[in-house]
Amino acid sequence: MNEPFTRPAAAAVSGPARPDDALAVVAAVAGYLAAGIDTDAVKAAVAGVVKRGLRLARCRLWPRAAEGSAFRGIPAPGEASPAPGEGDAVRRWLERSVAPPADAALRVPLAYDGATLGMLEAWPSAETPLPAAARVVDVLAGVLSPLLASAELSEDLAGEVALRTREIEAQRRFTAQIIDTLPVGLYVIDREFRIQAWNRKRETGTQGVVRDEVLGRTVFDVLHRQPRDLLQREFERVFETGRMEQLEVESNATGETRHYRLTKIPMRLDGDEVTHVITIGEDITEWKSVQQQIAQTDKLAAVGQLAAGVMHEINNPLATLGACLEALESRSEDLPGPARQAFEEYFRIMESELGRCKRIVDGLLDFSRPKARHKRRAPLNPIVEDALFLVKHHDRFKAIHLVRQLADDLPAIEANAEQLIQAFLAIMLNAIDAMEGAGALTVATAFAPDRADELVVSFSDTGAGIPRENLSKIFEPFFTTKLPGRGTGLGLSICYGIVAEHGGRVQVDSQQDRGTTFRVFLPVAGAGAAP
Ligand SMILES: Nc1ncnc2c1ncn2[C@@H]1O[C@H](COP(=O)(O)OP(=O)(O)OP(=O)(O)O)[C@@H](O)[C@H]1O
Ligand SMILES: [Mg+2]
Repeated sequence: MNEPFTRPAAAAVSGPARPDDALAVVAAVAGYLAAGIDTDAVKAAVAGVVKRGLRLARCRLWPRAAEGSAFRGIPAPGEASPAPGEGDAVRRWLERSVAPPADAALRVPLAYDGATLGMLEAWPSAETPLPAAARVVDVLAGVLSPLLASAELSEDLAGEVALRTREIEAQRRFTAQIIDTLPVGLYVIDREFRIQAWNRKRETGTQGVVRDEVLGRTVFDVLHRQPRDLLQREFERVFETGRMEQLEVESNATGETRHYRLTKIPMRLDGDEVTHVITIGEDITEWKSVQQQIAQTDKLAAVGQLAAGVMHEINNPLATLGACLEALESRSEDLPGPARQAFEEYFRIMESELGRCKRIVDGLLDFSRPKARHKRRAPLNPIVEDALFLVKHHDRFKAIHLVRQLADDLPAIEANAEQLIQAFLAIMLNAIDAMEGAGALTVATAFAPDRADELVVSFSDTGAGIPRENLSKIFEPFFTTKLPGRGTGLGLSICYGIVAEHGGRVQVDSQQDRGTTFRVFLPVAGAGAAP
């Protein structure tokens, strides 16, 4: 029960309130309270009803503030707000550390379950029917206390819910941030193939789609460029087997060919059943090209070793054959006319075929020999110029338009000029062959894109281009598409070896019927990349 601080002393000021008056006040208050006492407006209205019913001079409710240590005065409508400091005084009275002043006010603590939740303060006027009014205030305090308690509790609950919601939201955002920061495309679908997550990486790029536009839609709807049956089968397999699946795909959506590794990961929300599938897409184009280069280098090294052995063996018989041919030639001079002519014809063929064998052997030896040859610091452009000078004098170059775009002020490279000239020649002769005598060859030098420690020499032709299926083979020794007798298939493998020996690499871009660009990347001298 709520114990008033003071029993009204002025019991004789006025006559007793009639019972139905008191009942009317309690009933009116109860009417207000039917919907709870959660808001300040309801509290003020309750103070107003009490004030009117008991004809008070003033009436205020002092609920305790959310944090529990302070009290806020809520006056009846039309009354002034409490002065600063009044709340403190109320707290001290309620804590019973200071007794309230012995004035006319009726002050009843609102306590419930051992906790003081507030105070009802009523100032009688001359009309107030005391002492009955004091009892009514008491009764009202008894009615209000549990309501305040439940209002507080629901406020606490609401606060707790708000706090938990904030925590969950913060956690959700943290996870989303992690997923968005990953350098891979990621999306999640549910059993209905509807997209439930879609990370930032999937929003960017030429094929990017904004998250808000895809969430909730089916994956077939969004990835409409992919064959639906295939996609559905892939997902169904993961849903059924519960095993992760990985595949590599190629895409030309950006204009250039890029390789992606797609990983489909089963996800189980609860229980054993797969509820979602996470798909991660990584761009592995660069990784793949490095892998290919490593494989290429290994392959070339193996072929080189084999070739070196064989060629040494062949070199000696070739030399012997050459010597025999010379001896036969000198003897044939004694033969009679027609016979001599026939022999000379054979000798010419033998000589030219022997010469061809020798060139192949030399070429292969060049390619396979360990090349610890001397390199010097040298500017790149003069080496390119020397190669151009040689190629310009080639018969097949006559009808070709040469475009020179050599950048000034490039730093020096560590070069074996003779070898580099040979490498550039191999590339340019191929370009001339590909253009079948007519077209344009653009030769350019520059810094490699985005790098200061590498230079690039590029050779672009307007020739036939290289079919895709051949791109991976052109550096292999003896790979040629040229007519027998025209090409040995050694040019590019030698070029590859020379460039690798300079700590560089060769890249090819080709479009059929449009042309081909070979780029030779070479490290700048002193950049640390050169061997
Ligand atoms: N610029 C180019 N345009 C089109 N195809 C090319 C080009 N460069 C190289 N190729 C292709 O690559 C193949 C291999 O070239 P590579 O220089 O190694 O040998 P080759 O030119 O056939 O013979 P070799 O250079 O030994 O006389 C060529 O046969 C050709 O099919
Ligand atoms: Mg060639």
